[in-house]
Amino acid sequence: MIVQSSVTLEPATELHENSPVPRHIAIIMDGNGRWAKERGLPRVNGHSSGAHALRAVTETCCVLGVECLTVYAFSTENWKRPAEEVSALFGLLEHFLESELPTLQQNNVKLRAIGRLSELPKSTLHALEGTIQKTTANDGLTLILAINYSGRTELEDAIRAVCREVAQGTLTPEEFNQAHLQKHLYTRDWPDPDLLIRTSGEMRLSNFLLWQLSYTELYVTPKRWPDFTGNDLVEAIKEFNQRQRRYGGL
Ligand code: FPP
Repeated sequence: MIVQSSVTLEPATELHENSPVPRHIAIIMDGNGRWAKERGLPRVNGHSSGAHALRAVTETCCVLGVECLTVYAFSTENWKRPAEEVSALFGLLEHFLESELPTLQQNNVKLRAIGRLSELPKSTLHALEGTIQKTTANDGLTLILAINYSGRTELEDAIRAVCREVAQGTLTPEEFNQAHLQKHLYTRDWPDPDLLIRTSGEMRLSNFLLWQLSYTELYVTPKRWPDFTGNDLVEAIKEFNQRQRRYGGL
């Protein structure tokens, strides 16, 4: 294993030196609200503890040599939450982008984001674009924040782009195939996730990466996201390594 940062994993859960590591891990960071409720705390405390968990898991991905980590930070449906929670989430995100910059640089992490980003509050978009630009030359882990994201709106945007090509006469309906759609997805620069982790026990995709998860291995843990650690990530990868991926073949 190539150690790329100063984080050390507990020896008991360290992956074997020759164990493969997924190239791309996606995470539905669920359970922040329940974590807070179980402790008699406001929901926002769950989200801020969730941000700490994200930091730890990102660092573990750097240590393990994972290429891409995509996390579901805010869905297009999350606007339905009370205004105070929405605004606290964006405040937290802005704080994360600013406070984590030195660590991202130190760990050679490139930050990217997917979703309808132009609809974000101006200050959030500004902070996001700043951190993306400042980390653009990094070539270690790519950390992809899904913000104002849903799989269906991503497909809507990609299909609209394909329709434009057809309307402009640069593509005919007969020529159209999956590759044309794929090149308009927000995720066109990265491989599909190998492993999807969902915390807090729910067995659903919640509109996350609907196209990209077609052949992804799923791992659901009852742990709330704020309690999820780097060692839990290693456990998920160990289970992933037991799976046989057949992609519909034998
Ligand atoms: C789901 O838990 C989590 C979210 C909607 C937001 C995820 C946000 C974070 C982990 C905070 C920090 C993120 C960044 C990028 C700084 P939930 O609120 O739906 O939990 P519940 O289902 O228990 O109510």
